[in-house]
Amino acid sequence: MTQHCVSIGLCNPKSATNVASILRACGCYGASSVFYTGQRFGYAKQYNPDTQNMRAVIPTVGVDDLLAYKPKGASIVTIELVDGAIPLPEFTHPDNAFYIFGPEDGSVEQEVIDASDHVVYIPTFNSMNLAATANVVLYDRLAKSQFDRSSALIASSKDNNNNRQWRG
Ligand SMILES: C[S@@+](CC[C@H](N)C(=O)[O-])C[C@H]1O[C@@H](n2cnc3c(N)ncnc32)[C@H](O)[C@@H]1O
Repeated sequence: MTQHCVSIGLCNPKSATNVASILRACGCYGASSVFYTGQRFGYAKQYNPDTQNMRAVIPTVGVDDLLAYKPKGASIVTIELVDGAIPLPEFTHPDNAFYIFGPEDGSVEQEVIDASDHVVYIPTFNSMNLAATANVVLYDRLAKSQFDRSSALIASSKDNNNNRQWRG
């Protein structure tokens, strides 16, 4: 199976809890790295909501400019509620993608939107929580892909003490 590159870019995230949830999503859906701008996550992470220590597994790199750290060969896919954006249900994800999300208390800068290959929104009634948005985007990518349907994947993903079966 071809290995595709999925990375996440976060514009000045405020909440370490959101970043920890995004790191956990990266582990679940197979994203390989997280880049973030701003100082706020650096201060917030000392409160350690990253209980699974995903930062030890997923490189989590503070940078000055997300655009300068676009992984080679990746398309920039900005996720934002913005006029002219493509609704996520209609979006075809590029094989190699750098998904960029805005901060909890702001929006992705126009400069980043202008540099994007695609801008995508989720047609919700209100703006979503940052980590929830990243989870939905990564799930949508999975749902539109050739995913692993094997029992082996379920066995390796579930808790050790989970022996449940569905006999329906
Ligand atoms: C909590 S939202 C930011 C708040 C928002 N700018 C506001 O009006 O207050 C954090 C980020 O999640 C993403 N986001 C949230 N809801 C979204 C949606 N329905 N479609 C696309 N992106 C969304 C965007 O990247 C946004 O910048």
